[in-house]
Amino acid sequence: MIITIDGPAGSGKSTTARKLAARLGVPYLDTGAMYRVVTLAALDAGVDLHDEAALTAIAARDDYELDLGPTHIRVTLRGHDVTEEIRSMRVNDHTRYIAASPGVRRILIQRQRAIAARLGSVVTEGRDQGTAAFPDADAKFFLDAALEKRAERRLHEMLADGEEVSPAQVLANLDERDRTDSERAVAPLLVPPDAVRIDTTHLSIGEVLDVILA
Ligand code: C5P
Repeated sequence: MIITIDGPAGSGKSTTARKLAARLGVPYLDTGAMYRVVTLAALDAGVDLHDEAALTAIAARDDYELDLGPTHIRVTLRGHDVTEEIRSMRVNDHTRYIAASPGVRRILIQRQRAIAARLGSVVTEGRDQGTAAFPDADAKFFLDAALEKRAERRLHEMLADGEEVSPAQVLANLDERDRTDSERAVAPLLVPPDAVRIDTTHLSIGEVLDVILA
């Protein structure tokens, strides 16, 4: 069984995906973590972030890994745990270049399908899971919320992680990522036509979960 949850940053999809997966007893896949670790690898390598061939070569490497636990995801790059570092503002500010690369997207979608095939059942979340990666998924959801609410949620998460950010920085980053995610030529953020759409602005995670389970 493949369940996809797509939506913009701060819509609640990561927490919802994690809780849904735990409730169903299946693993969850955070595909944003894949774009994030490739971004970090590209920044570390110092490559030009517009260099399609260089970005594709980095995505094709096997020096990054996702360890999918039942309620967590651990990410390593060249053997180092980068689970927290991939959530930093430095990475946030550069994911759009990596997400816009057709070569990177092709490789990451192949890897997402291979992970799902290996696991059998998965709750997978991202921007293109119900459209490009798993068009034949068993159930599809699209979560959204007002920009201010999403920025507030993301700010709390980042402050809790010890990141020094201001509300204005988080809002500007989210706004920019929304725009580039929606406007990019390859696999833009779209609502899958057969998805259940949920506005989470005024809902708790528990309420979102109830809607999905129903
Ligand atoms: O979901 P998260 O905020 O961790 O994703 C980080 C970035 O990765 C997004 O802003 C988006 O550009 C990109 N992404 C994507 N496709 C996915 C998941 C994430 O383009 N399936």
